[in-house]
Amino acid sequence: MLEIETARPPPRVLVVDDEPAVLRSLCDVLEVRGLQVEGRTDAGEALALLRPQTWDLLLCDLSMPGIDGMELVRRALVIDPDLACVMITGHASVDNAVQAMRAGAVDYLEKPLRLSIAMPVIERALEIRHLRRVKAELEATVRTQMDELRQANADLNSFAHSVSHDLRAPLQAIDGFSRLLEARETTQSDERSLHFLSRIRSSVKQMGELIEGLLLLSRLGRTAIDRHAVDLSAMGNDIVSFLREASLDHGATFDIDPELPAVQADATLLRQVLVNLMSNACKFSSKVTQPRVQLGWDSATSPHTFFVRDNGTGFDSARANEIFEPFQRLHPQSEFAGVGLGLSIVARIIARHGGTIHAESSPGQGACFRFTLSGAHE
Ligand SMILES: Nc1ncnc2c1ncn2[C@@H]1O[C@H](COP(=O)(O)OP(=O)(O)O)[C@@H](O)[C@H]1O
Ligand SMILES: [Mg+2]
Repeated sequence: MLEIETARPPPRVLVVDDEPAVLRSLCDVLEVRGLQVEGRTDAGEALALLRPQTWDLLLCDLSMPGIDGMELVRRALVIDPDLACVMITGHASVDNAVQAMRAGAVDYLEKPLRLSIAMPVIERALEIRHLRRVKAELEATVRTQMDELRQANADLNSFAHSVSHDLRAPLQAIDGFSRLLEARETTQSDERSLHFLSRIRSSVKQMGELIEGLLLLSRLGRTAIDRHAVDLSAMGNDIVSFLREASLDHGATFDIDPELPAVQADATLLRQVLVNLMSNACKFSSKVTQPRVQLGWDSATSPHTFFVRDNGTGFDSARANEIFEPFQRLHPQSEFAGVGLGLSIVARIIARHGGTIHAESSPGQGACFRFTLSGAHE
């Protein structure tokens, strides 16, 4: 017996059969069972009644003059792809059944109709229709939420971008004027003023790094990845020279594997990854007597895993995931200066390449950052 949930409105069924007597009795039976039924002997007329999301079930005869059952189901599904259709065939042959399913029917019934067989088939078809509707609604909700999320992300990115951008000008003014003041003070003023001035200058420098980091982060969401073959060993050595020239090496010894495999990556962005990881490695090992920084790879893993390892201060591995979030720092500013954006930039670049990154460490035991760049380098 068909049970109709009170929460759902009665299902709407469109019955099409060219034999008026069959049509009438079928409609009567379904109406008695609480369905809302409309019957037509002409397929063209039935088609005219079809609108998206108006009917739940189309119950139609296979052989009819003019538009037959197959054609009717096909056209009905164009109007409402979620509609459940059940075909009524003159005699049940495998061929008829296959044809009905091909046209898009969810089931078929054989004439003469026997209610004990027909009702479970109709119930099942209505359940399929209900599930299709729920699925379509869920998909629509997910789509809307995704659109909203995308929009919110884009807004946030452009907000971060314009704020960071607008902060540059006043910062440059502070930098310029404090430099002028410093030049004057050296000739005329006391130690204390000079100390304050140098604090201003170093804060300005830090804020400058922060702004550049934020600008880079906000740009990363938008710029396309431009992959080419990159020689990682050459890039690693080049970065060593850069770190030494910029006095960011903190006296570290470098060990760059001379035979790192070539990778397919965006060279500018990958360089940023290595600069951030290697400068961190130098910074956080600056307090050990013989700081060592290594750039290598694991040949056994697929995709290849690259790593930047140091023998520095390390950190508690339980907090290894936190450090890839913006502004998360595990060491006090007084010990190791920084703004806390380097690793979030690294993580975002790696993600844009389809790769992953994670950190391994324990306090006093150095740190190792392992990353992949998807499977493109194989
Ligand atoms: N090689 C490393 N050794 C120990 N700790 C590290 C290392 N690299 C990163 N960290 C930890 O992760 C935090 C975030 O790093 P990062 O985003 O580069 O910011 P910053 O270098 O400005 O502090 C650092 O403050 C530090 O606590
Ligand atoms: Mg850093």
